[in-house]
Amino acid sequence: MASKPLDYENINENVKNCAYAVRGELFLRASQLEREGKKIIFTNVGNPHQMGQKPLTFPRQVLALCQAPFLMENAHVGIMFPDDAIARAKHYLAMTSGGVGAYTDSRGLPGIRKEVAQFIEIRDGYPSNPDLIFLTDGATKGIMQTLGTIIRNKNDGIVVPVPQYPLYSATISLSGGTFIPYYLEESANWGLDIDHIRQSILDARQKGITVRAMVIINPGNPTGQCLSYANIKELIEFCYQENLVVLADEVYQQNIYQDERPFISAKKVLMDMGLPYSKDVQLFSFHTVSKGFWGECGQRAGYFEMTNIPPKIVDEIYKVASISLSPNVPGQVLLGLMVNPPKPGDISYAQFISESKGILESMRRRAHVITDGFNSCQNVQCNFTEGAMYSFPQLKLPPKAIEAAKEAGKAPDVFYCLNLLDATGISTVPGSGFGQKEGVFHLRTTILPAEEDISEVMASFKKFNDDFMAKYEA
Ligand SMILES: Cc1ncc(COP(=O)(O)O)c(C=O)c1O
Repeated sequence: MASKPLDYENINENVKNCAYAVRGELFLRASQLEREGKKIIFTNVGNPHQMGQKPLTFPRQVLALCQAPFLMENAHVGIMFPDDAIARAKHYLAMTSGGVGAYTDSRGLPGIRKEVAQFIEIRDGYPSNPDLIFLTDGATKGIMQTLGTIIRNKNDGIVVPVPQYPLYSATISLSGGTFIPYYLEESANWGLDIDHIRQSILDARQKGITVRAMVIINPGNPTGQCLSYANIKELIEFCYQENLVVLADEVYQQNIYQDERPFISAKKVLMDMGLPYSKDVQLFSFHTVSKGFWGECGQRAGYFEMTNIPPKIVDEIYKVASISLSPNVPGQVLLGLMVNPPKPGDISYAQFISESKGILESMRRRAHVITDGFNSCQNVQCNFTEGAMYSFPQLKLPPKAIEAAKEAGKAPDVFYCLNLLDATGISTVPGSGFGQKEGVFHLRTTILPAEEDISEVMASFKKFNDDFMAKYEA
């Protein structure tokens, strides 16, 4: 019989080549165990609400009113919703023609893009042009669209920090380009070594690759490090010398758990550097409502800002965005609220501050408990989670454990994580999903389990780990 028009053999090879560990084997096994009735602690995805984080009240009030504007005609609306939430819902609805159920401009509503530009201006102290800001269904869509615009064929290379968030390797595969790793130095708190990056680029060029762009994830996922001003400057200087587009993934900009290195955007550093950098270096910066103290992953809202991208390219990106018609509109409203939250003097201000501070302070405490917990375990070593939402401990697996993994047909870190899942219900992601140096093993967990549960989760982890290490060291 002739093969089917669509056979596994004849689908796009790029689809087969792309891997996405965060929802890979471990996640599937955890989901199966959950269906069988086992209690699973999902620490594999940075998905705060799934782990019990409560949505912030004010943004959800505004969203509720935007979704159900007829509530505003109800005589009791003033009892159910504060006046500033009602005013804000009216403000956003006035920007739309047809409310949140109607398509918008493919770049997002102009009024919300203006609010994003004002947020960036206040954050960085430099002008921002709303016409160079596109709203997207999560930062992911913007990153995919940008990579899709840059990559022409397999000879185009993108330089990505390793360990890396697998969206990058997966999207580069899907777009048919070449992934060029630069290794972060675990012993230097996941720092960068420009000479290593330069060497990676030289190696790629020798293989005939045209190196086009470099990704900077700050704060880092999965490594949690926060880049210093000097680091960012050095990276920008490097991209200028090497003629690379900078892709600054800044989705964790609110998630900072130390005071020495506050978040500084790549845009600010670039503008501070002055000429020729500020006019020559091409930069895409990404942000989202999924992270920070918002954690609204399911709402799928983000934006990207373009710096030094010529108008003809912006037009092409606009054209491609138009194919999807419009980013989701409730998400755009939420993004507007993120960049323009309640101000001092507003009715909802005190509650907003108390909720958002409460979440961030709790995350900071959890970052400490988790790092300390890992470092108290046999053969486990963990850098402090300076930012983002993850802990990435190194597992010094005994040779017998590596042997046992081989017999089970699993990578050693996958073997460890599967055993951990079966014994404790803790669902993590093996380090191999993010890339790691040969012969070095990690796992990634989020810092998101509820604060009241975290000591118990770490105790359960420690018991499993110490038994596992003792078993294979014997
Ligand atoms: C570094 C990084 N970039 C981008 C994203 C995607 O975020 P979004 O939910 O906005 O698509 C994530 C999600 O975990 C991430 O960790």
